[in-house]
Amino acid sequence: MYKILCIGAGYVGGPTMSMIAKKNPNVRVTVVDINSSRIDAWNSDNLPIYEPGLLEVVKAARGKNLFFSTDIHRGIEEADMIFVSVNTPTKTFGHGAGEASDLQHWERCARQILEVAKTDKIVVEKSTLPVRTADAMARILNSGSNGVKFEVLSNPEFLAEGTAIADLDHPDRILIGGHDTPAGQKAVQALVDVYAAWVPRERILTTNLWSSELSKLTANAFLAQRVSSINSISALCEATDADVGEVAHAIGTDSRIGSRFLKASVGFGGSCFQKDILNLAYLCQSYGLHEVAEYWRQVVKLNEYQQRRFVARMLREMFNTIAGKRIALFGFAFKADTGDTRESPAILVARELLAEHVDLVITDPKALAQAQIDLADVKDRIQFEPDPYQAANGAHAIAVVTEWDQYKTLDYQRIYDRMIKPAFVFDGRNILDHKALYEIGFNVYSIGKAALKHI
Ligand code: UDX
Ligand code: UDX
Repeated sequence: MYKILCIGAGYVGGPTMSMIAKKNPNVRVTVVDINSSRIDAWNSDNLPIYEPGLLEVVKAARGKNLFFSTDIHRGIEEADMIFVSVNTPTKTFGHGAGEASDLQHWERCARQILEVAKTDKIVVEKSTLPVRTADAMARILNSGSNGVKFEVLSNPEFLAEGTAIADLDHPDRILIGGHDTPAGQKAVQALVDVYAAWVPRERILTTNLWSSELSKLTANAFLAQRVSSINSISALCEATDADVGEVAHAIGTDSRIGSRFLKASVGFGGSCFQKDILNLAYLCQSYGLHEVAEYWRQVVKLNEYQQRRFVARMLREMFNTIAGKRIALFGFAFKADTGDTRESPAILVARELLAEHVDLVITDPKALAQAQIDLADVKDRIQFEPDPYQAANGAHAIAVVTEWDQYKTLDYQRIYDRMIKPAFVFDGRNILDHKALYEIGFNVYSIGKAALKHI
């Protein structure tokens, strides 16, 4: 039986390997992680990440040909193919701090594979890595003396959180990069065969290693850039009474532009966009391409500006003083349908509001526990409240930060009746019925649209 190992049971490794196992009953898939409580959770019905449809996929294969374990050593020994899906966060220290990728986990994995392996293996980079990392990986792996041969492939993951299962089931494309040598191409074919179990062959793209590595960074940079572009226009819309939703629709119907990823918001979050753009900028910088680096950095700067602008508008519209006022943040996750808060705009918004001495209350259906961890240093100054009605009780303002569906259908008359007047709504996701809210009596401020105010 062909054996696949994945090192790293996170948001990427866990769901991806579960899908590979489900679709390839003849392949044995093992997922290992140094975090034993995470592995315990993968072996339970209470999975460590919230993702619609994931539990069904896991249950279809777990115990048959899908296994979660902490025995990394044995996993490496037995595997024919090893995916490395450990985290590669932005470096916080030393050279390149704040921009470059921290590759220490990843390098440790490479050394561990080298140390343990007794048979030839294909090593697949699943983590997002700087271009030419495969080169370094191959050099480490091939520094051994026991004759074991390694072939390194790049196979970036494009799934988005919240829709991971649908994205894995019906991917726009699978990207596999490998060396243009007979051994490299043989390894590429082995990985193509794994995906061809359910993905149409024409959707499996094969490229050289460096193109594959760079495509991942570029895809995320382009997606984030679209959000920053529309957010930049949202600021101009607010100043001119144009409506950013109408502008986005008007430009998005141009088939050359396309309609997706043009939703103006309080800003983009998530574990990838900022990290990957900064990494891209750092790479450009290190190749002496300063103008290119600066171009991409601006996408991140605009995103931070958008978050600060959101809070500045709240302050300005609430009579330039929000100290002591109760404000309810609706949502803390970086987007709907996930409990993930990594780089969520809610974090900066919450901190900026606290800096203004706001009496802050935060509600979220999935991310409240994580919010308390993210804001641990200021947690005594915040109320964490699962019920949005309770959160809004006695508040001066509501600020929608995550586009959870349930916020669209709350009884806003009931909420209004229990708020301090004048009552304010700041819709950072443009998901509410603004006209209806205005008619109830709210002063309504959304992203990139004229304000609806009674005062
Ligand atoms: C990670 C990378 O961050 C991202 O760049 C890449 O695109 C895909 O892999 P994610 O799955 O979201 O994304 O990361 P995370 O949820 O943090 O999972 C990484 C896992 O690796 C953690 O469970 C961690 O415990 C584990 N790990 C880390 C190891 O098993 N060994 C290590 O040496 C380091
Ligand atoms: C992203 C990429 O989409 C995915 O391909 C890659 O593998 C990982 O990074 P993810 O971070 O899960 O996925 O979420 P995504 O849906 O891309 O949203 C990122 C952020 O942008 C969220 O905060 C979202 O709310 C925001 N966004 C997205 C907008 O503000 N407007 C939009 O139009 C789209």
